[in-house]
Amino acid sequence: MNLPAGSLAARDAAAILHPMVSPAVIEERGALMMARGKGVYVWDSNGKQYLEGLAGLWCTSLGYGNEELAQVAHDQMVSLSFQHMFNGKSHEPAMLLAEKLLQMVPVENASKVFFGCSGSDANDTQVKLIWYYNNALGRPNKKKIIGRVKGYHGITLAAGSLTGLPPMHNQWDLPLDGRFIHTDCPHHYRFAEPGETEDAFTTRLAHNLEQLILREGPDTVAAFIAEPVMAAGGVLVPPAGYFEKMQAVLNKYDVLFIADEVVCGFGRTGQPFGSQTLNIKPDTVTLAKALTSAYQPLSAIVIPEKMYGPIAEAGKKLGTIGHGYTYSGHPVCAAVGLKTLEIYERDQIFQRAAALAPKFQSRLRSFLDHPLVGEARGVGMIGALEFVSNKATKAGFTPYGSIGTYCFERCHVHGLIPRNVGDGIALCPPLIITEAQIDEMFDKLSLALDDTLNHVTRLGLLAA
Ligand SMILES: Cc1ncc(COP(=O)(O)O)c(C=O)c1O
Repeated sequence: MNLPAGSLAARDAAAILHPMVSPAVIEERGALMMARGKGVYVWDSNGKQYLEGLAGLWCTSLGYGNEELAQVAHDQMVSLSFQHMFNGKSHEPAMLLAEKLLQMVPVENASKVFFGCSGSDANDTQVKLIWYYNNALGRPNKKKIIGRVKGYHGITLAAGSLTGLPPMHNQWDLPLDGRFIHTDCPHHYRFAEPGETEDAFTTRLAHNLEQLILREGPDTVAAFIAEPVMAAGGVLVPPAGYFEKMQAVLNKYDVLFIADEVVCGFGRTGQPFGSQTLNIKPDTVTLAKALTSAYQPLSAIVIPEKMYGPIAEAGKKLGTIGHGYTYSGHPVCAAVGLKTLEIYERDQIFQRAAALAPKFQSRLRSFLDHPLVGEARGVGMIGALEFVSNKATKAGFTPYGSIGTYCFERCHVHGLIPRNVGDGIALCPPLIITEAQIDEMFDKLSLALDDTLNHVTRLGLLAA
């Protein structure tokens, strides 16, 4: 370990097993110790200021240090700091939040909300309820769930199995056997065949989905899960018409559509939910992150009456619905969630995001002229750049991810926190960002990109 003895970073490295990073990075360089945040800015323990270009982890839509949310949490802690929802107990904050979500989500005949603490546990709940539902309907074989290559749905055993990213599977003995399968990633830039139009590409993907369902046996396939826009996979926006074609296949074989709105929900893509932007008609949705603007850990799934009915009927015979978390519907989280939704409505945050999106997207796409950038993609207030060593062949870099990481680190030097996604950079700022701050964010990214170009040129990695 090269960290100064007794420094915060050294003590942190000595005490914490860090998520989603190589232990070697923490041992050699230490974590970036963050100290405080206000609005779209955060400060590290040395006082250096950064613009939060990824809204934390795609979640802090209202930025940092919101006094109203802090006050609501404080008041709820004083009045009823905890109440579980097991064995027939409940409370007003959870009830009010559930009512509100049922009105908001684009689920036909939205019937019930089930609360959890994270996107991962919510997706596990989706899987379990769909299994329970099919058991209730007397279809014990209809249990397989289809995820997609590059999809991200969390890291618990079921959610991690739905995820389609190798680091979440390799060495973790995932996906779990038999019940989790994956279909194609709808990223035209990377996965289209030479000369294939977007229309032909999406037709091929829908055909592949149908072949997969037929191979597995339609009576064994229960559901399909998709992020409207894949976030952690690299901000991958599918071509127009993709979801309509996929959903037609799913409907043909009575396969449920789970929309994972954990990132896309609550205004991120220019509409209240990503399903609306991408023209999905979900059977059920998963919500988390911006549900509380990350002021409290809270997730929810919303199921339709057609699922609740059989589940409730079976429950009457079987007794207890044997599923629930100690913190399902935690009153402080629910109160903060309710206030977050009230602020979204009062301050017209979704409309604001839609109004800022053209500027965000046009500044993002202006980087297409940059020698390193092969693709600039996004929708609403989320986007990414993908770096290539050769624009004509779309060749990337070896080892994969090394140049994305370099650029990510240069962003930090210039006071911007984005996310590195492979050899690319993703941006997803708080939705309270101003036009001037959007300019500041892209100006900082531009400096980091030029540093990265110098680095790549020095190493002779760019095609002549
Ligand atoms: C689309 C999506 N679903 C699920 C999750 C998992 O959420 P959590 O990290 O809260 O478990 C994430 C996390 O980034 C996500 O992006």
